[in-house]
Amino acid sequence: MLLMPNELLHSYQDLLAPIHAFLHCKTPKRWIEQAANPKYLPLLLTDHLHCELKAAQSAGLLLRRYAVDKENAEKILTWLEPYETRVYRGHLLAADELATLTGGNKNNAVPRLRLPQGEPWQHELVDRMVLLMKEELHHFDQVFSIMEQHNIALQPTSASRYAAGMLRHIRGSEKGGLVDKLIIGAIIEARSCERFAALVPHLPEQIARFYVSLLRSEARHFEDYLALAKMVEGAGVAERVQKFLAIEQKLIESPDKALRFHSGPVQ
Ligand SMILES: [Fe+2]
Ligand SMILES: [Fe+2]
Repeated sequence: MLLMPNELLHSYQDLLAPIHAFLHCKTPKRWIEQAANPKYLPLLLTDHLHCELKAAQSAGLLLRRYAVDKENAEKILTWLEPYETRVYRGHLLAADELATLTGGNKNNAVPRLRLPQGEPWQHELVDRMVLLMKEELHHFDQVFSIMEQHNIALQPTSASRYAAGMLRHIRGSEKGGLVDKLIIGAIIEARSCERFAALVPHLPEQIARFYVSLLRSEARHFEDYLALAKMVEGAGVAERVQKFLAIEQKLIESPDKALRFHSGPVQ
């Protein structure tokens, strides 16, 4: 059922062109048909909420592993903690419940990370990833409040095979591992963007409008990760990007065990 006005459906096509040019395949029609079934909406939103948190955590992990010292690493963990508390209790915590658990401190101020020395790519990593984390945590709050408004409880979900299916191919060397993680970050962001757009015509209007609003920042996140990977690896990055895109295509097109935001179609 088409719930969206046509102008809105056309408003983001320019954002999608580079995403479609980058990814090796579009989401299979079968996945869209399955995900569009209203019975899966609570599951998809739960999985989406986890994805926003994981996106922020992965960026935080890159900062802690490759750029900042211990003191600044602590600031990142403190920033993430209230969001993690909200989902890892197994149910969505209401604001007052969260305030009780965290002593009223939601800790959602963006930390100022100091990087007195370091390579140019490390400074770039800090600038881009702190902003990315801020945006992902904002998306988390937005998904959270949509779930509250629609009285949608957290569904029990397992992680999909998607990210793990790519992460198992990362190189063992320090810089090689970093570059591969950045490439995987770019691919996940690009796929998220492509999937939000694919779902828009099939969602209730309020959620569809929210998904359209996410497209611009996810498209920028894909560019951020790719720019960082190029900065660290140089010209050799193209070959690695193609390798991971081919792995991703298989994960997206082959039958999967369970429907998830980044799964293949379920048989
Ligand atoms: Fe996001
Ligand atoms: Fe993102």
